[in-house]
Amino acid sequence: MKIERGEVVEWVQPLQGKVVGVTGASGFLGRSVRKAFLAVGAKVLPFSRRPARLECFAGEETAREFRTDGKLDFSECQIVLHLAGENVFGVWTQKKRQRILESRIEGTRAVVRAIQRSAQPVTLICASATGFFGDRGEEELTEDSPRGNGFLAEVCQRWEAEARKAEENGARVCIVRLGMVLGKTGGAFPILRSLFWFGLGGMVGSGKQWMPAVHILDAVRIFLALAADLRLCGVFNASVPSPFRSEEFVWELARLLRRPAIFHLPSFFVRMVLGELSELILASQRVFPKRLLGIPFGFVAPNLKDLLQKALE
Ligand SMILES: NC(=O)c1ccc[n+]([C@@H]2O[C@H](COP(=O)([O-])OP(=O)(O)OC[C@H]3O[C@@H](n4cnc5c(N)ncnc54)[C@H](OP(=O)(O)O)[C@@H]3O)[C@@H](O)[C@H]2O)c1
Repeated sequence: MKIERGEVVEWVQPLQGKVVGVTGASGFLGRSVRKAFLAVGAKVLPFSRRPARLECFAGEETAREFRTDGKLDFSECQIVLHLAGENVFGVWTQKKRQRILESRIEGTRAVVRAIQRSAQPVTLICASATGFFGDRGEEELTEDSPRGNGFLAEVCQRWEAEARKAEENGARVCIVRLGMVLGKTGGAFPILRSLFWFGLGGMVGSGKQWMPAVHILDAVRIFLALAADLRLCGVFNASVPSPFRSEEFVWELARLLRRPAIFHLPSFFVRMVLGELSELILASQRVFPKRLLGIPFGFVAPNLKDLLQKALE
């Protein structure tokens, strides 16, 4: 994490002393944003379904229970980062799909109700995903583009709609549509890196599909920037400003690891094995973070080369 304790760059100064609630606190993003908000002088309240098992950083956090039964309490928080949700990886059985959808709808509903009960104005920053766009070929996608088709697009639209209900009570709401988040400590990248390292890397589908992705450090900095600037609200695409295709990702990763990437899984095979989950890998989303480029926020990994180099550091 590049935002070290004591290093308070100008644009995060408004966060000093703020109380920030983080749901999904034990997750890949949850752990990273908690460390970053602590580092810039905010007080962090991590919310977890299993608070007793949560690793608390620097002895400064007191874990709270994330619950959806109307007893969720954000009364101390000025900012809530809502990151909780069933992981989308795994076999998409009917039950898994239900958990993916319901954990986001019910969870976000509970978060919004808790914000509505709060006596103080709250900023809600809710994760979403570029899955919102479905499979869009060569189309250039910005925050103004309509949703696409497919299960994930529907999940994202309903998830975002639930979060935006907090606006009805005057909350500032930011939605962060994340591409695949790359980092060493979680998500899909450590598995991909190992596969490539053992020479098992290769193309999935045609390789021509656009692949939105963002480095974990940029993802965290986006959450910091949105939390700090009270003028920002609405949807923000969070992926590198220079989009790349899946085949470019494969070649660059193989080149950096000095490993061959000879395997090829054709689309029909991926669909046959993964079923609907294949939309996660085969969908083409040429996403641009148009709104983030309009604010004084600089990506530390704005293109594929920087993204992979940083992820491998
Ligand atoms: N990582 C990515 O590449 C990526 C890309 C696009 C969007 N996103 C979205 O960003 C958010 C955070 O991502 P992440 O990578 O940190 O995910 P993650 O590592 O899977 O963590 C999500 C956290 O949510 C909680 N959770 C898990 N299953 C749940 C369920 N069924 N109901 C309620 N809470 C549940 C867990 O925290 P506790 O056990 O502590 O409660 C878990 O640690 C997710 O909503 C994800 O969909 C992530």
